[in-house]
Amino acid sequence: MIYDGVKHFPGFVNREAQESLVLALREAVLAAPLFIPLMPRTGRPFSVRMTNMGSLGWVSDRNGYRYQAAHPDTSTPWPAMPQAILEIWQKVASYPHRPEACLVNFYQGGAKMGLHQDKDEEDFAAPVVSISLGDTALFRFGGTERGGKTSTVKLASGDVLVMGGNSRLCFHGIDRVYSGTSTLLKEGGRINLTMRRVAKPN
Ligand code: SIN
Ligand code: FE2
Repeated sequence: MIYDGVKHFPGFVNREAQESLVLALREAVLAAPLFIPLMPRTGRPFSVRMTNMGSLGWVSDRNGYRYQAAHPDTSTPWPAMPQAILEIWQKVASYPHRPEACLVNFYQGGAKMGLHQDKDEEDFAAPVVSISLGDTALFRFGGTERGGKTSTVKLASGDVLVMGGNSRLCFHGIDRVYSGTSTLLKEGGRINLTMRRVAKPN
């Protein structure tokens, strides 16, 4: 536990399981190519590239942030979430329903992610569960108010992070990725998989 409700599980996914996740991701990216999201209003591009798996995917463009059932460029449904990812959710989420969305963030060549809250979901009773693959990243998180005190933790390949309870709406982001710290991805870089429950269960 590193902050009220933020749980860090270093090395939760072993190397063999990380390798099979990467294979599954390569398949997913063939069906749902990585796209460069744009900031709402300004239209500035994110430095990460993204795609999604599951019945819903998170997208951002000039019209805002939202979940949608189809890829913004191909208009086809997102590929299914691999079973191995659902199993990780079941082990750590302490939440009885499945996530509908798994956002795939791909960090390469200096990509980072500014401090933000994950708040486009209806059900904040569900945690956000993320899996890190590839190069180690410096993850920064704070409280639920912008501008508050923050702390950092390094996330290495195979680490799982759970933001639930009081930390569900905490500000968080990636300051930087340390290139050359993992041999998992042949081209280097980092992949983060973020599972989220979007709709309130009936
Ligand atoms: C995110 O908050 O969307 C990504 C966090 C991460 O890359 O670890
Ligand atoms: Fe986030």
